[in-house]
Amino acid sequence: MKRIFSGIKPTGHLTLGNYLGAVRRWAEVDQHQADALFSVVDLHALTVEHDPGRVRRLSRQAATLLLASGIDPGLATVFVQSHVDEHARLSYLLECVATDGEMRRMIQYKEKSARERSRGGSVRLSLLTYPVLMAADILAYGADEVPVGDDQTQHVELTRDLAVRFNQRYGQTFVVPRATPPEVAARVMDLQDPASKMGKSHEAGAGIVYLLDEPDVVRKKILRAVTDSGTEVAYDRESKPGVTNLLEILAACEGGNPEALSGVYESYGALKKDTAEAVVELLRPVQERHKELVADPAYVEEVLRQGAERAREMSRPTVDRAYRAIGLLPPV
Ligand code: TYM
Repeated sequence: MKRIFSGIKPTGHLTLGNYLGAVRRWAEVDQHQADALFSVVDLHALTVEHDPGRVRRLSRQAATLLLASGIDPGLATVFVQSHVDEHARLSYLLECVATDGEMRRMIQYKEKSARERSRGGSVRLSLLTYPVLMAADILAYGADEVPVGDDQTQHVELTRDLAVRFNQRYGQTFVVPRATPPEVAARVMDLQDPASKMGKSHEAGAGIVYLLDEPDVVRKKILRAVTDSGTEVAYDRESKPGVTNLLEILAACEGGNPEALSGVYESYGALKKDTAEAVVELLRPVQERHKELVADPAYVEEVLRQGAERAREMSRPTVDRAYRAIGLLPPV
């Protein structure tokens, strides 16, 4: 059976982008087809300025939302990254095969470090090495596939390069994984700024639909989405980025084709209205289940405890093998 690994970092409330680009498929497809692991990757949340209490709260919330989205701990392993030491252990070894030039070429590093510097802040070294930790997350489990949105495919490419390099130099140790982005909604854009990704770490919330937004808030955000000049509803990322984003969201909700959908609408208003209702309906069951799970924190904790135990057992043999292969003396 193939192995799948993916993760979500607790740097903000989960968004519609996270859901359509990743989490929904984890629940609807991936966990049924593979031996799947889904992790709240909290170590990754420490790479930028953060409030410790907020990271803890967001980690618990993200785990609860994964379960609310339909991830079944009877089928998949759900755990918190920092509960499993193998990630940090392997990350160091991979730092010894990665180069600093490779890290500096990562688009997310370039964007995030520029943002930090423009605010007068300093850039944490862990922001630079972040993709190495992400590679460790994936390689420790021998994952074949990594279901992620478009923005993470460069990191998965790097993971492949590191796996191949390690295997060539130190002997066959890692499975070489591949990214599997969704066909529709691989990059959901901000409703107020369709040139930028809908991202949970962005501060302004008007263009971001959060999974836990009340139905009326969802409607308001979508009805106020920025649209493009002209009146024709057309699927064209270049000239109609706002409308195209809405078509992608609606198609992802309804399981259709965004280009075909464009022919159905004669006005921006009708497209917005249907998109808003489709998103409200998409989120309703997740929100209901979330409410139930929040009332039962002991259940969520037990899922995470068992998940971490399983994840430790699954990752330790590979990480131990890598330690020996690279030249470290086994403990006596
Ligand atoms: P993160 O936490 O930013 O996002 C989690 C998942 O959601 C996807 N995503 C989107 N998809 C479509 N449209 C959007 N606007 C959008 N925003 C986010 C992301 O592509 C991702 O699949 N580095 C990763 C976390 C990570 C990871 C891993 C993922 C750490 N280790 C190992 C896979 C495997 C990240 O920051 O995702």
